[in-house]
Amino acid sequence: MWERESGEPHIYHWAIVLKEGNVLIGDIAVVRADDFQERGTIGYCMCKAWWGKGIMTEALSEVLRYCFEEVGFFRIDGEHAAENIGSSRVMEKCGLVYEGTRRKFFRPPTTGVRVDIVERGILREDYFKNIK
Ligand SMILES: CC(C)(COP(=O)(O)OP(=O)(O)OC[C@H]1O[C@@H](n2cnc3c(N)ncnc32)[C@H](O)[C@@H]1OP(=O)(O)O)[C@@H](O)C(=O)NCCC(=O)NCCS
Repeated sequence: MWERESGEPHIYHWAIVLKEGNVLIGDIAVVRADDFQERGTIGYCMCKAWWGKGIMTEALSEVLRYCFEEVGFFRIDGEHAAENIGSSRVMEKCGLVYEGTRRKFFRPPTTGVRVDIVERGILREDYFKNIK
C-alpha cells in the first residue's frame, strides 16, 4: 500500500529500513498537510526491538530537512501523549518546541483511559536558525 501511494502527490510517507540488510523496522510520515497554510503534522512508529538507538531522531531530522529545504513548509507540528517520553525526546532533539497541552484530549481504544496530549512545533525560521 505504501509503495502504491508513494507515486501520489501530497503523500509524504517513508519506510524506515536498516542500512544493513534493507529490513523494514518502522515508518514516518507527514500525516496531515495543508498546502495553503504550508503546514504539516508529523507521525511515526518503530518496531520495539530498535527503540533507543537514535534511529527515529535520525529519521525525523532528515524528514524535517526535506520538508523545509525541498518542499518549503512553513511549520511542522508534532503531538504525543504526555507520558510518551521517547517521542517527546525525539521531537525535542529535532527542535520541535513545547507549545501546550490538551488535557485528557485522547482516549486510546486499547485502554479507554483519556490522556493529555502535548503539542509541539518547529517553524522554518527556527529550522534554519538552529538546525543548520
Ligand atoms: C517514540 C519512538 C518513535 C522513539 O524512537 P527511538 O528510535 O527509540 O528514538 P531515539 O532513540 O531517536 O530517541 C529516544 C529518546 O528518548 C529517550 N527515552 C525513551 N524512553 C525514555 C524513558 N522512559 N525515560 C527517559 N527517556 C526515554 C531515549 O533515551 C532517547 O533520548 P536520548 O537520546 O536523549 O537518550 C518509538 O519509541 C516508538 O515507535 N514508539 C511507539 C510508537 C509511538 O510512540 N509513536 C509516536 C506517537 S506520537
